[in-house]
Amino acid sequence: MVAVQTIDESGLPPDIEASIRRMLAVCFPKDAPFFSQSRAWHGSAPSFSAVAVDGDRVIAHAGVVQRRITVGGVPLDVAGIQNVAVLPEHRGKGLCRRMLARAMDAAFRRGLDCGLLFCETQSVPLYARCGWRKLPDRPVVRVDSDGLEKPLPQGNLPMWCPLAKQSFPAGPVHLRGNDW
Ligand SMILES: CC(C)(COP(=O)(O)OP(=O)(O)OC[C@H]1O[C@@H](n2cnc3c(N)ncnc32)[C@H](O)[C@@H]1OP(=O)(O)O)[C@@H](O)C(=O)NCCC(=O)NCCS
Repeated sequence: MVAVQTIDESGLPPDIEASIRRMLAVCFPKDAPFFSQSRAWHGSAPSFSAVAVDGDRVIAHAGVVQRRITVGGVPLDVAGIQNVAVLPEHRGKGLCRRMLARAMDAAFRRGLDCGLLFCETQSVPLYARCGWRKLPDRPVVRVDSDGLEKPLPQGNLPMWCPLAKQSFPAGPVHLRGNDW
């Protein structure tokens, strides 16, 4: 079975980073031009990533953005999951489940309060099967690249996963930066 590991962004070898961007371009063809340059979706760069490497090729990836957001005006340290993808020929074997578990395990060891991600409706069942929960309805504010406060992009739903905090605090969510 191929191993899943987490790697700090600061220690990510350039060839692995390039391999991640190549597989993201395959998995998100519409955004291939973006991934040919960067993985910092909406300017939000990962602190670490969970990857599965087969030989010299990355076959699965989930980035983790570490961010202090606020909920109801109170700070909350989150592990923001982004760019979740498994190459087509490796899907359906539990790699995504293992990556998310590994990423949340690393986030827990870093003392983070919870996982937080944004996905389209069609991906909700996938994350729900991996133990993530829909965030009860409430405003989520991000700060776009022009410094303007905006709601989440249309169609994006927030989901969360408990870590140090077992329940998500009450109140509106402010991402204190752009979404991921
Ligand atoms: C979505 C994706 C990452 C899933 O990877 P994967 O390795 O095949 O997923 P897993 O095998 O780990 O599946 C984990 C669980 O989710 C379920 N699942 C997987 N894909 C699903 C989907 N599209 N819808 C509903 N459930 C799904 C699996 O049945 C499994 O549940 P089970 O173990 O209880 O049966 C992969 O299909 C992919 O890269 N797609 C293109 C990019 C993408 O959509 N990324 C997500 C963006 S938010």
